[in-house]
Amino acid sequence: MAALTSIRTSEGRLEIVNQLLLPHTTEFIEIKTIEDAFDAIKSMKIRGAPAIASLAALAVANHLSNALKASPTPPWLETTDALKQHVSELLAHLFTARPTAVNLGAATRRLSKKLQVEIDAGKDTRTIAQELIAEAKQIDAEDVGRNKLMSKWGGEWLVEHVKSQGGSGADLNVMTVCNTGSLATSGYGTALGLITYLHETGKLQRAFFTQSTPYHQGSRLTAFELQSLKIPSTMLCDSMVGSLFQHHHIHAIAVGADRIARNGDTANKIGTYNAAVLAARHNIPFIVVAPVSTVDLEVADGSGIPIEHRPAIEACLVRGALYPPKLDAQEVKEQATVMVTPEGLEEVFNPSFDVTPASLITAIVTEKGVAVKKSGEEAFDLTPIV
Ligand code: MRU
Repeated sequence: MAALTSIRTSEGRLEIVNQLLLPHTTEFIEIKTIEDAFDAIKSMKIRGAPAIASLAALAVANHLSNALKASPTPPWLETTDALKQHVSELLAHLFTARPTAVNLGAATRRLSKKLQVEIDAGKDTRTIAQELIAEAKQIDAEDVGRNKLMSKWGGEWLVEHVKSQGGSGADLNVMTVCNTGSLATSGYGTALGLITYLHETGKLQRAFFTQSTPYHQGSRLTAFELQSLKIPSTMLCDSMVGSLFQHHHIHAIAVGADRIARNGDTANKIGTYNAAVLAARHNIPFIVVAPVSTVDLEVADGSGIPIEHRPAIEACLVRGALYPPKLDAQEVKEQATVMVTPEGLEEVFNPSFDVTPASLITAIVTEKGVAVKKSGEEAFDLTPIV
């Protein structure tokens, strides 16, 4: 099976896989405009903190390169003031598509900063646009390399940690939550990257993953990725984590992150906090794997992380398709959702993320290395890894 991808670009065409239809069909959707990108992120056709940042950046790149080719060129390319206003508005709009994943804000801030630097350097509008296109493409391109790095740091750290506790460091069973692989990034993945690294180096026995309801990123996406990577794996319902820890030897939990506060408190997919509480109870190391762009040093602790609440309806339905699988996109769309609640349900609590306190986290890994807490401390010093 070919490596899965969330975004593909060729000859000026920007496309994403519609993740709402996975794993039943692989439909590529063209992202022609900034609004298409905004809608795809908001409706979760593309999701995962690094992937949405990449798409936002690439959509800006496409918008600018189309404008450079247009005849006549749009009026906002005539002066640097007009260019600044136009690009700033686009970035501000994209930034609002999803509030918790800070990578999106990191990407839009990076492009804003680049815009200002080029304006201050006195460059003309066409050159500034070209510089912005290059910077946007760089945001996407650098993701895969840093994912491989953090996966290696985290994998090696885990092997040594297990050995330091008297284990062999081989045949590791690692559980994860949500989807943090190629579909959630520009390639390889973060927590799923760590699992992939252990598999590639012969250290993994089995990956365990929760369904990650209500969006089923685990059962729809992680299951698909692990199958395509041929990694031995076991799915469990979110409510079975405690039972898994009671009955299986799980060596570690590895999760991604949507935002990591200065003290190490980490927002990630809903259900991550439950897994961390249970991991602490069972003395299982809990590892967060994320790029530096996920760390928000301006937020002191988890109480300052905005938590996105998704529409009630998304917790009242399941997305799926009748078997046999391999239906075409239209058939999958027709079968796509089944309601599992009575009509007129009074109220639904549907936060998309929760915050795991730093005190429950054993290690935080970025492309710069691994941070652990000093003995007796509740918070991380993230300075060495950001
Ligand atoms: O709502 P989603 O599917 O975008 O949430 C994704 C997660 O919570 C991931 O764990 C996180 O973004 C890290 S992806 C490498």
